[in-house]
Amino acid sequence: MNIGIVTVKDNNYHPNQRLIEAAAQQGHRATLIHPYRVWPCLEGGKPYLIDHHKMQHSNVVLPRQGATVGDSSLNLIRQFSLMGIPVVNDFDAIRLARNKFLTLMSLAAVHIPIPDSVFVNSSEGFHNALERLGGFPVVVKQVSSRKGQGVILVDTQQKVLSMIRDYLIKRDGLLIQHFIQPAGRRDMRVLIVGGKVLGAVELKPRKGDFRANFHLSGASRSINISPELQDIALRSADAVGLEIAGVDIILDQNRRFNVIEVNYSPGFRGFEAATGIDVAGGIINYVAGTYG
Ligand SMILES: Nc1ncnc2c1ncn2[C@@H]1O[C@H](COP(=O)(O)OP(=O)(O)O)[C@@H](O)[C@H]1O
Ligand SMILES: [Mg+2]
Repeated sequence: MNIGIVTVKDNNYHPNQRLIEAAAQQGHRATLIHPYRVWPCLEGGKPYLIDHHKMQHSNVVLPRQGATVGDSSLNLIRQFSLMGIPVVNDFDAIRLARNKFLTLMSLAAVHIPIPDSVFVNSSEGFHNALERLGGFPVVVKQVSSRKGQGVILVDTQQKVLSMIRDYLIKRDGLLIQHFIQPAGRRDMRVLIVGGKVLGAVELKPRKGDFRANFHLSGASRSINISPELQDIALRSADAVGLEIAGVDIILDQNRRFNVIEVNYSPGFRGFEAATGIDVAGGIINYVAGTYG
């Protein structure tokens, strides 16, 4: 079958390269679809694509455009569905997963443990959130950040002022969250494909940082996770509606799990290296088996 991958990156980018390889190994073909070179079109009320490179002949589409690409790419994802082409993960799930606060709401609705969090879009809101969360320190996040880039520890009034200046004056919303102390804490990433746990890694922050993203630390090791943690990860993916998901979970010093976020297009270079698991093969196998 033809598998389309929505991405702005080329075929040297690790996940793209691995998915193309895995598709070929399983007798399929994966093609990269650049979201700025294919345009959804409604003609006589019918959905088409203006697609000079003929990338649309996909039997299934994997949206992996990431957070750096604006929400405009979501229109293309919806268009594929309207054209009857299955999309994995689908539009509704991606819309939730691209916004960290919408994700937390979905998790909380099904009683999945999350850190106390407030969403604000004014400086007044920021001060109220600080008070509600018991004062400094707090974690502040842009709702659509990734790779740790928009996640900041705020522990002084000075930093509050710069947050207000940089984000809240423009009314870009911010997520203010209870800070889980690094002492005695464990950061985990669980990879889910098609309602199954593919594997899990533990990530360690670099010295002096509290963020344990693979891109920032590089220190990851394969772990076996308990049935309880597997259940939390599976329910988290399910709560957002994701078939393919990277679930970030922190075990705090009181041994309580906190789900931090759920990624819809998880990278897996570090994950494959740490675990030896063929993630690309697992994704292709699931997608071809389910939608082929
Ligand atoms: N509330 C928190 N307390 C302590 N550390 C956190 C908290 N939220 C996030 N982190 C750390 O920061 C990292 C990045 O945060 P995350 O919400 O996953 O955003 P991103 O999309 O940038 O990965 C997490 O993997 C975790 O190590
Ligand atoms: Mg994360």
